[in-house]
Amino acid sequence: MKRNHLFIKIVAAILLVIIVLFITARLVNKAPSKELSASLQTKAIIDDGGCLACHNDPPKFPWYAKLPVVKNMLASDAANALKQINLSEAYTTLATNSPMGQVALNKIENAVTHQTMPPARFSVMHWKSKITKAKRESLLSWAKGHRLTFYNNGLAAEEFRNEPVQPIQDSIPVDVRKVILGEMLFHDVRLSLDNTLSCASCHDLTTAGMDNEIVSDGVGGAVGQINSPTVYNSVYNFVQFWDGRANTLAEQAAGPPLNPIEMASKSFDQIIEKLRQDKAFTKAFLEVYPEMSESTITDAIGEFEKTLLTPNSRFDKYLKGDLTALSAQEISGYELFKSHECATCHSGVTLGGQSYEYLGLAQDYFAERGTDITEEDGGRFKQTGKQYDMHRFKVPGLRNIALTEPYFHDGTQKSLEDAVSAMLKYQLGVSVPDNEIGDIVAFLKTLTGEYKGIPLTNGTTSSTRK
Ligand code: HEC
Ligand code: HEC
Ligand code: HEC
Repeated sequence: MKRNHLFIKIVAAILLVIIVLFITARLVNKAPSKELSASLQTKAIIDDGGCLACHNDPPKFPWYAKLPVVKNMLASDAANALKQINLSEAYTTLATNSPMGQVALNKIENAVTHQTMPPARFSVMHWKSKITKAKRESLLSWAKGHRLTFYNNGLAAEEFRNEPVQPIQDSIPVDVRKVILGEMLFHDVRLSLDNTLSCASCHDLTTAGMDNEIVSDGVGGAVGQINSPTVYNSVYNFVQFWDGRANTLAEQAAGPPLNPIEMASKSFDQIIEKLRQDKAFTKAFLEVYPEMSESTITDAIGEFEKTLLTPNSRFDKYLKGDLTALSAQEISGYELFKSHECATCHSGVTLGGQSYEYLGLAQDYFAERGTDITEEDGGRFKQTGKQYDMHRFKVPGLRNIALTEPYFHDGTQKSLEDAVSAMLKYQLGVSVPDNEIGDIVAFLKTLTGEYKGIPLTNGTTSSTRK
C-alpha cells in the first residue's frame, strides 16, 4: 500500500516536472515581434530554429556537439541536411529583404508546412527552435508575400499569382541588329575546325533545340560525354551548362567553338580569319560592332539566344486564366507535380534552371545505374572541387520536355515516364501508382510552346515519330 503511494507520488512529480518544462518551453519559444518586418520575423524564426546549425557549410554546431556520441549524430545529420539544402545564402537575403532564390523559398515553405524541421531531437535540446503555430503562420505569410513581390511577373491570372511556376514571357528586350548577326553565326559552320558543324548541328531549332542523342557527337565523329540540353529558353537559366561553368549565354557561346570534342577550332583568331574572307558578312558585322572578336561574336550569339523563347503553351494559357486549356487529367498532373514537390526544384518560368541540386537525395542514383562513374557525373564538383558540389547538377528546365528525350545529364532515361519515375525514386523516395505517373507526364506534355507563333515539334523523338 505504502509503496504504491510512493510510486504515485513519484509519477506525479515527474509529470509535474514535464508540465512545467513544457510550459517553460512554450513561454521561451515566442513568435517574433509583429513590429519587425516580415523578412526579419522570418530571420528570427530561422535563428531560433537553429537551421544553420545543420544547413550551413561548414555546419554551425552548438557547443555540446563536441561530446562523443552527439558528435557523430550531428555530423551525419549535417551531411544529410546539406545534401538537401545549404541555407546560408538564403539566410543572408533575409536581413536586407532581397530576393531569396525561389527553390530555397519553396524548400523552407515545404519544411514548415509539413512540420518536418527542425528535427524533433534537436527541439528537445533547443526549446526556442520548434516552429509553433504562430511562427508557422508568420513564416508562411512571409513566403507568400515574398513570392508575390519578387516572382510575380504580372502574367498569371489573379488566382495563380502565388504559384511556384510562372507563365513565360512572349519576348524580352533585345538589340535586333545583334540578333540578326547572332542568328547567322548560330548557323555558321565556319565556327568549326573543318566547316562541318554549327551550333545548330547539335541544337537544331526545328528539332526542339537539341539533337535527341544520348550524348552529342562533335567534329570528325568525336564522341561527347554528356547529353545536350535545348537552347530554347536557356536565357532563363541562372548559369549555363549542367555544371554551371558559364555565367551568361555569351560566355557559354565561347565554349563549343574551341572544344576539341565539339567544334574543335584552334582559336577564335582562326574563326575570325575565315569570317573576314566573307566581305558581305564582315561589312554587316562591323556596322553593328566596332570589331570582330571573340567577345563580339559571342555577344551576338547570346543576343540571338535571348529570342529563343517558347511562349503560349497550353499550360501558359491555363496560368493566364483559360481554365479550359488543360484537361482534368493534366490539371491533376500539375497538382501532383506540386504535391510530390517536383515544383520545389522545377519552379519558376522554365520549371528549373535556378539552382544546383544533388542527384540521388533519396536513393543512390549512381550506385544503381550500374555503369562506371564518369568525370561528368561529378556535376558542379568538376568546377569547384568541393565535396559539397559532388553530384550536384543545374536543375534542367522542363519546358518542351516532351520533345527533348533522352533525359538526364547522362541521357539514360529514354522516355518521359522513365525520367519521372526516376525522379520519384531517387529524388523523393516515394512510389506512386502508374496512373499518377501518367498524370504527371500528361501535365509535362502541356509545356510544349510556340516559337515564332508556330507550335514547337520534333520529327526525331519517338513520341512524334510514327
Ligand atoms: C539537427 C540538424 C538540423 C536542424 C537544426 C535543421 N535541419 Fe533541416 N534537415 C536536417 C536533416 C538531417 C535533413 C534531411 C532529412 C532527410 O533526408 O530525411 C533536413 C532536411 C531539410 C529540408 C528538406 C526536407 C524537408 O523536410 O523539407 C529542409 C527544407 C530543411 N531541412 C530546412 C530546415 C529549416 C528551415 C530548419 C530550421 C527551422 C532546419 N532545417 C533545421 C537537419 C536539420
Ligand atoms: C557537338 C555538339 C554541340 C555543338 C556544336 C554545340 N553544342 Fe551547345 N551543348 C552541347 C552539349 C553536349 C551541351 C551540354 C554540355 C555541358 O553541360 O557540359 C551544350 C550546352 C549548351 C548550352 C547550355 C544550355 C543549358 O541548359 O545549360 C547552350 C546555351 C548551348 N549549348 C549553346 C550552343 C551554342 C551557342 C553553340 C555554338 C557556338 C553550341 N551550343 C554548339 C552540344 C553542342
Ligand atoms: C531536389 C530537386 C529535384 C526534385 C525534387 C525533382 N527534380 Fe527533376 N531534376 C532534378 C535534377 C538535378 C535533374 C537533372 C538530373 C540529371 O541530369 O541527371 C532533374 C531532371 C528531371 C527531368 C529530366 C530533364 C532533362 O532535360 O533531362 C525531368 C523530366 C524531371 N526532373 C522531372 C521531375 C519530376 C516530375 C519531379 C517530381 C516527381 C522532379 N523532377 C523532382 C532535380 C529535382
